[in-house]
Amino acid sequence: MKKVLKWVGIGLTGLIGLLAVGLGVVYFKTEARLNKIYELPKETIVIPTDADSIARGKHIYQFRGCQACHGGTDEYNPILLQSQADGSLPHDIQSIDRLQGNVYMDDPAVGKVIASNLTSGQGGVADQYTDETWVHAIRHGVRYNGKPLLFMPSTEFYYLNDGDLGAVIAYVKSVPPVDNILPASQVSMTGRILMTLVPTLTFMPAEMISNNAPRPVTPEAAATPEYGEYLTQSCKVCHGLTMSGGRIPAFPSSWPAAPNLTWGSGSALPRWSEAEFITAMRTGKRPQGQPINSTYMPWTSFRYMDDLELKAVWVYLKNLPKKDLGNR
Ligand code: HEC
Ligand code: HEC
Repeated sequence: MKKVLKWVGIGLTGLIGLLAVGLGVVYFKTEARLNKIYELPKETIVIPTDADSIARGKHIYQFRGCQACHGGTDEYNPILLQSQADGSLPHDIQSIDRLQGNVYMDDPAVGKVIASNLTSGQGGVADQYTDETWVHAIRHGVRYNGKPLLFMPSTEFYYLNDGDLGAVIAYVKSVPPVDNILPASQVSMTGRILMTLVPTLTFMPAEMISNNAPRPVTPEAAATPEYGEYLTQSCKVCHGLTMSGGRIPAFPSSWPAAPNLTWGSGSALPRWSEAEFITAMRTGKRPQGQPINSTYMPWTSFRYMDDLELKAVWVYLKNLPKKDLGNR
Protein backbone atom coordinates (compact mmCIF):
# COMPACT_ATOMS: atom_id res chain seq x y z
CA MET A 1 0.00 0.00 0.00
CA LYS A 2 2.79 2.35 1.00
CA LYS A 3 4.54 1.57 -2.29
CA VAL A 4 1.42 2.36 -4.29
CA LEU A 5 1.03 5.66 -2.48
CA LYS A 6 4.68 6.44 -3.15
CA TRP A 7 4.20 5.85 -6.89
CA VAL A 8 1.00 7.88 -6.93
CA GLY A 9 2.95 10.65 -5.19
CA ILE A 10 5.77 10.49 -7.73
CA GLY A 11 3.22 10.43 -10.57
CA LEU A 12 1.41 13.47 -9.22
CA THR A 13 4.63 15.38 -8.67
CA GLY A 14 5.61 14.55 -12.24
CA LEU A 15 2.24 15.75 -13.57
CA ILE A 16 2.39 18.96 -11.59
CA GLY A 17 5.94 19.48 -12.85
CA LEU A 18 4.84 18.94 -16.46
CA LEU A 19 1.90 21.29 -15.99
CA ALA A 20 4.19 23.95 -14.56
CA VAL A 21 6.58 23.58 -17.51
CA GLY A 22 3.60 23.73 -19.92
CA LEU A 23 2.24 26.88 -18.31
CA GLY A 24 5.72 28.40 -18.35
CA VAL A 25 6.00 27.73 -22.09
CA VAL A 26 2.53 29.21 -22.69
CA TYR A 27 3.45 32.26 -20.64
CA PHE A 28 6.73 32.96 -22.45
CA LYS A 29 5.29 32.30 -25.90
CA THR A 30 2.38 34.68 -25.31
CA GLU A 31 4.67 37.27 -23.69
CA ALA A 32 6.69 37.29 -26.90
CA ARG A 33 3.53 37.97 -28.96
CA LEU A 34 2.19 40.58 -26.55
CA ASN A 35 5.51 42.44 -26.46
CA LYS A 36 6.47 42.12 -30.12
CA ILE A 37 7.65 45.42 -31.57
CA TYR A 38 5.94 46.01 -34.93
CA GLU A 39 7.78 47.57 -37.86
CA LEU A 40 5.22 49.81 -39.53
CA PRO A 41 5.18 51.77 -42.77
CA LYS A 42 5.94 55.46 -42.54
CA GLU A 43 2.63 57.31 -42.26
CA THR A 44 2.53 60.85 -43.54
CA ILE A 45 -1.13 61.84 -43.13
CA VAL A 46 -1.37 65.54 -42.41
CA ILE A 47 -3.74 65.97 -39.46
CA PRO A 48 -6.01 68.95 -40.10
CA THR A 49 -6.88 71.48 -37.40
CA ASP A 50 -9.82 73.38 -38.92
CA ALA A 51 -13.30 73.27 -37.36
CA ASP A 52 -14.94 71.53 -40.35
CA SER A 53 -12.47 68.64 -40.29
CA ILE A 54 -12.87 68.29 -36.53
CA ALA A 55 -16.67 68.17 -36.91
CA ARG A 56 -16.35 65.57 -39.66
CA GLY A 57 -13.94 63.61 -37.43
CA LYS A 58 -16.49 63.61 -34.62
CA HIS A 59 -19.15 62.32 -37.02
CA ILE A 60 -16.88 59.42 -38.06
CA TYR A 61 -15.89 58.80 -34.42
CA GLN A 62 -19.57 58.41 -33.53
CA PHE A 63 -20.85 56.21 -36.34
CA ARG A 64 -17.74 54.01 -36.54
CA GLY A 65 -18.33 53.07 -32.90
CA CYS A 66 -15.24 54.61 -31.22
CA GLN A 67 -17.50 56.38 -28.76
CA ALA A 68 -19.24 53.15 -27.77
CA CYS A 69 -15.94 51.76 -26.42
CA HIS A 70 -13.89 54.85 -25.47
CA GLY A 71 -16.76 57.04 -24.31
CA GLY A 72 -16.94 55.86 -20.73
CA THR A 73 -19.85 54.89 -18.60
CA ASP A 74 -21.77 58.06 -17.93
CA GLU A 75 -23.16 58.14 -21.48
CA TYR A 76 -24.77 54.80 -20.69
CA ASN A 77 -25.97 55.82 -17.27
CA PRO A 78 -29.15 53.79 -16.64
CA ILE A 79 -30.84 56.74 -14.98
CA LEU A 80 -30.26 58.85 -18.08
CA LEU A 81 -31.61 56.03 -20.23
CA GLN A 82 -34.68 55.56 -18.04
CA SER A 83 -35.48 59.22 -18.41
CA GLN A 84 -36.81 58.40 -21.86
CA ALA A 85 -40.35 57.18 -21.22
CA ASP A 86 -40.51 55.12 -24.43
CA GLY A 87 -37.19 53.38 -23.67
CA SER A 88 -35.39 54.99 -26.61
CA LEU A 89 -31.98 56.57 -26.17
CA PRO A 90 -31.73 60.30 -25.67
CA HIS A 91 -30.40 61.32 -29.07
CA ASP A 92 -27.38 63.27 -28.02
CA ILE A 93 -25.99 60.94 -25.33
CA GLN A 94 -23.07 60.02 -27.53
CA SER A 95 -22.36 63.53 -28.61
CA ILE A 96 -20.70 64.40 -25.29
CA ASP A 97 -17.00 65.05 -25.95
CA ARG A 98 -15.71 62.83 -23.16
CA LEU A 99 -13.17 60.31 -24.39
CA GLN A 100 -12.33 59.15 -20.87
CA GLY A 101 -12.09 55.43 -21.56
CA ASN A 102 -13.83 52.51 -19.94
CA VAL A 103 -13.45 48.88 -18.92
CA TYR A 104 -14.22 47.07 -22.17
CA MET A 105 -14.01 43.52 -20.85
CA ASP A 106 -13.38 41.96 -17.45
CA ASP A 107 -13.65 38.22 -17.94
CA PRO A 108 -11.36 35.71 -16.17
CA ALA A 109 -11.43 33.53 -19.31
CA VAL A 110 -9.74 36.26 -21.35
CA GLY A 111 -8.52 38.99 -19.05
CA LYS A 112 -9.08 42.64 -18.35
CA VAL A 113 -9.26 44.88 -21.37
CA ILE A 114 -9.45 48.64 -21.02
CA ALA A 115 -10.50 50.94 -23.85
CA SER A 116 -8.00 53.71 -23.17
CA ASN A 117 -8.63 57.26 -22.01
CA LEU A 118 -7.74 59.05 -25.26
CA THR A 119 -7.40 62.53 -23.72
CA SER A 120 -4.42 64.33 -22.21
CA GLY A 121 -5.97 64.27 -18.72
CA GLN A 122 -4.62 62.13 -15.87
CA GLY A 123 -4.63 58.49 -16.97
CA GLY A 124 -4.96 59.55 -20.62
CA VAL A 125 -2.61 58.54 -23.44
CA ALA A 126 -2.75 61.62 -25.69
CA ASP A 127 0.56 63.12 -24.54
CA GLN A 128 2.40 59.94 -25.57
CA TYR A 129 1.18 60.17 -29.16
CA THR A 130 2.47 61.91 -32.29
CA ASP A 131 0.50 62.38 -35.52
CA GLU A 132 2.20 59.29 -36.92
CA THR A 133 1.65 57.02 -33.90
CA TRP A 134 -2.06 57.99 -33.74
CA VAL A 135 -2.27 56.58 -37.27
CA HIS A 136 -0.37 53.47 -36.19
CA ALA A 137 -2.76 52.86 -33.29
CA ILE A 138 -6.00 53.23 -35.26
CA ARG A 139 -4.93 51.81 -38.64
CA HIS A 140 -2.56 49.06 -37.49
CA GLY A 141 -3.60 48.30 -33.90
CA VAL A 142 -0.17 49.17 -32.52
CA ARG A 143 0.49 51.31 -29.42
CA TYR A 144 2.87 54.33 -29.46
CA ASN A 145 5.60 52.06 -28.06
CA GLY A 146 5.34 49.67 -31.04
CA LYS A 147 3.54 46.87 -29.14
CA PRO A 148 0.17 45.41 -30.21
CA LEU A 149 -3.11 46.68 -28.74
CA LEU A 150 -5.67 44.21 -27.40
CA PHE A 151 -9.15 44.07 -28.99
CA MET A 152 -8.91 47.54 -30.59
CA PRO A 153 -10.75 46.73 -33.87
CA SER A 154 -8.14 48.09 -36.27
CA THR A 155 -8.98 45.30 -38.74
CA GLU A 156 -12.06 47.45 -39.50
CA PHE A 157 -10.36 50.84 -39.30
CA TYR A 158 -7.54 49.71 -41.58
CA TYR A 159 -9.95 50.55 -44.43
CA LEU A 160 -10.41 54.18 -43.37
CA ASN A 161 -8.86 56.41 -46.02
CA ASP A 162 -6.32 59.13 -45.19
CA GLY A 163 -8.96 61.88 -45.19
CA ASP A 164 -11.34 60.10 -42.80
CA LEU A 165 -8.59 58.86 -40.51
CA GLY A 166 -6.96 62.31 -40.43
CA ALA A 167 -10.31 63.85 -39.47
CA VAL A 168 -10.88 61.32 -36.65
CA ILE A 169 -7.43 62.04 -35.24
CA ALA A 170 -8.07 65.79 -35.55
CA TYR A 171 -11.20 65.30 -33.44
CA VAL A 172 -9.47 63.08 -30.83
CA LYS A 173 -6.70 65.69 -30.49
CA SER A 174 -9.26 68.47 -30.04
CA VAL A 175 -11.24 67.10 -27.09
CA PRO A 176 -10.84 68.48 -23.57
CA PRO A 177 -8.68 66.49 -21.12
CA VAL A 178 -10.56 64.19 -18.73
CA ASP A 179 -8.89 62.80 -15.60
CA ASN A 180 -9.66 59.09 -15.44
CA ILE A 181 -6.98 56.67 -14.28
CA LEU A 182 -7.73 53.14 -15.46
CA PRO A 183 -5.89 49.87 -14.83
CA ALA A 184 -3.68 48.49 -17.63
CA SER A 185 -5.09 45.86 -19.98
CA GLN A 186 -4.00 42.31 -19.16
CA VAL A 187 -4.54 38.86 -20.66
CA SER A 188 -5.33 36.16 -18.04
CA MET A 189 -3.60 32.77 -17.89
CA THR A 190 -6.66 31.06 -19.45
CA GLY A 191 -6.63 33.74 -22.14
CA ARG A 192 -2.97 32.91 -22.82
CA ILE A 193 -3.74 29.17 -23.00
CA LEU A 194 -6.57 29.87 -25.48
CA MET A 195 -4.29 32.08 -27.61
CA THR A 196 -1.71 29.29 -27.72
CA LEU A 197 -4.01 26.32 -28.35
CA VAL A 198 -6.29 27.90 -30.96
CA PRO A 199 -4.08 29.12 -33.80
CA THR A 200 -6.88 31.10 -35.45
CA LEU A 201 -7.69 32.99 -32.25
CA THR A 202 -5.93 36.23 -31.47
CA PHE A 203 -6.77 39.08 -29.15
CA MET A 204 -4.39 41.34 -31.07
CA PRO A 205 -5.80 42.71 -34.32
CA ALA A 206 -2.24 43.76 -35.31
CA GLU A 207 -1.55 40.06 -35.92
CA MET A 208 -4.29 39.99 -38.60
CA ILE A 209 -3.32 43.11 -40.55
CA SER A 210 -0.85 42.99 -43.43
CA ASN A 211 0.84 46.22 -42.54
CA ASN A 212 2.81 46.68 -45.71
CA ALA A 213 0.12 45.70 -48.23
CA PRO A 214 -0.93 48.41 -50.73
CA ARG A 215 -3.63 50.70 -49.28
CA PRO A 216 -7.21 49.81 -50.29
CA VAL A 217 -8.65 52.21 -52.90
CA THR A 218 -11.31 54.52 -51.48
CA PRO A 219 -14.41 55.19 -53.50
CA GLU A 220 -15.81 58.69 -53.81
CA ALA A 221 -18.46 59.64 -51.23
CA ALA A 222 -21.69 59.02 -53.20
CA ALA A 223 -24.77 56.78 -52.94
CA THR A 224 -22.99 53.92 -54.72
CA PRO A 225 -22.46 50.25 -53.78
CA GLU A 226 -18.70 50.95 -53.68
CA TYR A 227 -19.05 53.65 -51.04
CA GLY A 228 -21.59 51.47 -49.21
CA GLU A 229 -19.01 48.70 -49.02
CA TYR A 230 -16.46 51.15 -47.61
CA LEU A 231 -18.93 52.00 -44.84
CA THR A 232 -19.88 48.41 -43.95
CA GLN A 233 -16.59 46.71 -43.08
CA SER A 234 -17.71 46.48 -39.47
CA CYS A 235 -21.06 44.84 -40.31
CA LYS A 236 -19.23 41.77 -41.65
CA VAL A 237 -17.97 40.76 -38.21
CA CYS A 238 -21.55 39.77 -37.37
CA HIS A 239 -23.47 39.55 -40.66
CA GLY A 240 -20.66 37.60 -42.34
CA LEU A 241 -18.38 38.34 -45.31
CA THR A 242 -21.26 37.75 -47.73
CA MET A 243 -23.71 39.62 -45.41
CA SER A 244 -26.02 36.60 -45.37
CA GLY A 245 -26.05 36.42 -41.55
CA GLY A 246 -26.49 33.30 -39.44
CA ARG A 247 -24.86 32.33 -36.14
CA ILE A 248 -21.82 34.48 -35.38
CA PRO A 249 -18.70 32.31 -34.98
CA ALA A 250 -16.84 32.61 -31.65
CA PHE A 251 -19.59 34.77 -30.10
CA PRO A 252 -21.42 33.65 -26.92
CA SER A 253 -24.20 31.12 -27.60
CA SER A 254 -26.69 33.48 -25.93
CA TRP A 255 -26.40 35.80 -28.99
CA PRO A 256 -29.16 35.71 -31.59
CA ALA A 257 -28.18 34.84 -35.17
CA ALA A 258 -27.48 37.84 -37.36
CA PRO A 259 -30.19 38.38 -40.00
CA ASN A 260 -29.57 37.97 -43.74
CA LEU A 261 -28.91 41.41 -45.26
CA THR A 262 -28.76 40.20 -48.89
CA TRP A 263 -31.87 39.77 -51.02
CA GLY A 264 -31.64 35.96 -50.75
CA SER A 265 -34.09 33.63 -48.98
CA GLY A 266 -34.73 34.19 -45.29
CA SER A 267 -34.11 37.93 -45.65
CA ALA A 268 -36.66 40.55 -44.60
CA LEU A 269 -34.94 43.38 -46.48
CA PRO A 270 -36.63 42.88 -49.89
CA ARG A 271 -39.88 43.86 -48.14
CA TRP A 272 -38.36 47.07 -46.73
CA SER A 273 -38.14 50.39 -48.52
CA GLU A 274 -35.00 52.53 -48.44
CA ALA A 275 -36.76 54.98 -46.10
CA GLU A 276 -37.73 52.13 -43.73
CA PHE A 277 -34.14 50.90 -43.70
CA ILE A 278 -32.87 54.37 -42.82
CA THR A 279 -35.46 54.65 -40.02
CA ALA A 280 -34.47 51.21 -38.69
CA MET A 281 -30.78 52.16 -38.60
CA ARG A 282 -31.56 55.47 -36.87
CA THR A 283 -34.19 54.39 -34.34
CA GLY A 284 -33.69 50.63 -33.92
CA LYS A 285 -37.29 50.01 -35.05
CA ARG A 286 -38.19 47.68 -37.90
CA PRO A 287 -40.98 48.72 -40.33
CA GLN A 288 -43.64 46.86 -38.30
CA GLY A 289 -42.27 48.38 -35.11
CA GLN A 290 -40.36 45.41 -33.64
CA PRO A 291 -37.20 46.67 -31.92
CA ILE A 292 -33.68 45.76 -33.04
CA ASN A 293 -31.82 44.94 -29.83
CA SER A 294 -28.93 47.38 -29.37
CA THR A 295 -27.12 44.95 -27.04
CA TYR A 296 -26.31 42.93 -30.16
CA MET A 297 -26.77 45.25 -33.10
CA PRO A 298 -24.85 48.52 -32.59
CA TRP A 299 -27.37 50.83 -34.25
CA THR A 300 -26.78 53.31 -31.40
CA SER A 301 -23.53 54.09 -33.26
CA PHE A 302 -24.84 53.64 -36.82
CA ARG A 303 -27.70 56.08 -36.22
CA TYR A 304 -25.13 58.86 -36.63
CA MET A 305 -24.68 58.01 -40.31
CA ASP A 306 -26.05 60.77 -42.50
CA ASP A 307 -28.55 60.27 -45.34
CA LEU A 308 -25.92 59.87 -48.04
CA GLU A 309 -24.06 57.23 -46.01
CA LEU A 310 -27.19 55.21 -45.24
CA LYS A 311 -28.34 55.43 -48.87
CA ALA A 312 -24.95 54.10 -49.97
CA VAL A 313 -25.24 51.19 -47.48
CA TRP A 314 -28.76 50.41 -48.77
CA VAL A 315 -27.74 50.36 -52.42
CA TYR A 316 -24.71 48.22 -51.54
CA LEU A 317 -26.88 45.64 -49.74
CA LYS A 318 -29.43 45.65 -52.55
CA ASN A 319 -26.76 44.89 -55.16
CA LEU A 320 -25.03 42.11 -53.24
CA PRO A 321 -25.17 38.58 -54.68
CA LYS A 322 -28.31 36.95 -53.22
CA LYS A 323 -27.39 34.37 -50.58
CA ASP A 324 -29.58 32.16 -48.43
CA LEU A 325 -29.52 32.90 -44.71
CA GLY A 326 -26.28 31.76 -43.08
CA ASN A 327 -24.07 31.34 -46.17
CA ARG A 328 -21.38 33.40 -44.50
C1 HEC B 1 -14.73 47.43 -29.61
C2 HEC B 1 -14.21 48.49 -28.81
C3 HEC B 1 -13.36 49.57 -29.48
C4 HEC B 1 -13.70 50.37 -30.53
C5 HEC B 1 -14.97 50.34 -31.36
C6 HEC B 1 -12.59 51.29 -30.69
N1 HEC B 1 -11.61 51.03 -29.77
FE1 HEC B 1 -9.84 52.03 -29.61
N2 HEC B 1 -9.25 50.69 -28.21
C7 HEC B 1 -10.03 49.69 -27.66
C8 HEC B 1 -9.27 49.01 -26.64
C9 HEC B 1 -9.77 47.84 -25.82
C10 HEC B 1 -7.99 49.64 -26.59
C11 HEC B 1 -6.83 49.39 -25.64
C12 HEC B 1 -6.23 48.05 -25.78
C13 HEC B 1 -5.02 47.81 -24.91
O1 HEC B 1 -4.87 48.42 -23.86
O2 HEC B 1 -4.23 46.96 -25.31
C14 HEC B 1 -8.03 50.67 -27.61
C15 HEC B 1 -6.94 51.51 -27.88
C16 HEC B 1 -6.99 52.61 -28.71
C17 HEC B 1 -5.89 53.53 -28.93
C18 HEC B 1 -4.50 53.39 -28.31
C19 HEC B 1 -4.50 53.92 -26.91
C20 HEC B 1 -3.37 53.47 -26.04
O3 HEC B 1 -3.68 52.94 -24.94
O4 HEC B 1 -2.21 53.65 -26.40
C21 HEC B 1 -6.36 54.52 -29.75
C22 HEC B 1 -5.60 55.73 -30.25
C23 HEC B 1 -7.75 54.20 -30.07
N3 HEC B 1 -8.09 53.03 -29.43
C24 HEC B 1 -8.58 54.97 -30.85
C25 HEC B 1 -9.82 54.53 -31.34
C26 HEC B 1 -10.58 55.21 -32.37
C27 HEC B 1 -10.24 56.54 -32.98
C28 HEC B 1 -11.67 54.43 -32.63
C29 HEC B 1 -12.71 54.60 -33.72
C30 HEC B 1 -12.23 54.82 -35.08
C31 HEC B 1 -11.61 53.29 -31.71
N4 HEC B 1 -10.47 53.39 -30.96
C32 HEC B 1 -12.57 52.29 -31.64
C33 HEC B 1 -11.32 49.40 -27.98
C34 HEC B 1 -12.04 49.98 -29.02
C1 HEC C 1 -21.92 43.12 -33.25
C2 HEC C 1 -22.71 42.46 -34.26
C3 HEC C 1 -23.38 43.27 -35.36
C4 HEC C 1 -22.82 44.27 -36.14
C5 HEC C 1 -21.41 44.81 -36.09
C6 HEC C 1 -23.87 44.67 -37.05
N1 HEC C 1 -25.01 43.98 -36.80
FE1 HEC C 1 -26.81 44.25 -37.72
N2 HEC C 1 -27.65 42.89 -36.46
C7 HEC C 1 -26.97 42.10 -35.56
C8 HEC C 1 -27.91 41.24 -34.86
C9 HEC C 1 -27.55 40.20 -33.82
C10 HEC C 1 -29.19 41.58 -35.36
C11 HEC C 1 -30.52 41.01 -34.89
C12 HEC C 1 -30.92 41.82 -33.68
C13 HEC C 1 -32.31 41.58 -33.19
O1 HEC C 1 -33.01 40.75 -33.77
O2 HEC C 1 -32.71 42.25 -32.22
C14 HEC C 1 -28.98 42.61 -36.38
C15 HEC C 1 -30.01 43.19 -37.13
C16 HEC C 1 -29.81 44.03 -38.20
C17 HEC C 1 -30.85 44.53 -39.06
C18 HEC C 1 -32.33 44.15 -39.00
C19 HEC C 1 -32.57 43.12 -40.08
C20 HEC C 1 -33.85 42.36 -40.00
O3 HEC C 1 -34.02 41.46 -40.84
O4 HEC C 1 -34.70 42.64 -39.15
C21 HEC C 1 -30.26 45.33 -40.01
C22 HEC C 1 -30.94 46.07 -41.14
C23 HEC C 1 -28.83 45.35 -39.71
N3 HEC C 1 -28.59 44.56 -38.60
C24 HEC C 1 -27.91 46.05 -40.45
C25 HEC C 1 -26.57 46.16 -40.08
C26 HEC C 1 -25.61 47.00 -40.78
C27 HEC C 1 -25.88 47.77 -42.05
C28 HEC C 1 -24.43 46.92 -40.07
C29 HEC C 1 -23.14 47.66 -40.32
C30 HEC C 1 -23.21 49.08 -40.60
C31 HEC C 1 -24.66 46.00 -38.96
N4 HEC C 1 -25.96 45.55 -39.01
C32 HEC C 1 -23.71 45.66 -38.01
C33 HEC C 1 -25.61 42.15 -35.30
C34 HEC C 1 -24.73 43.09 -35.79
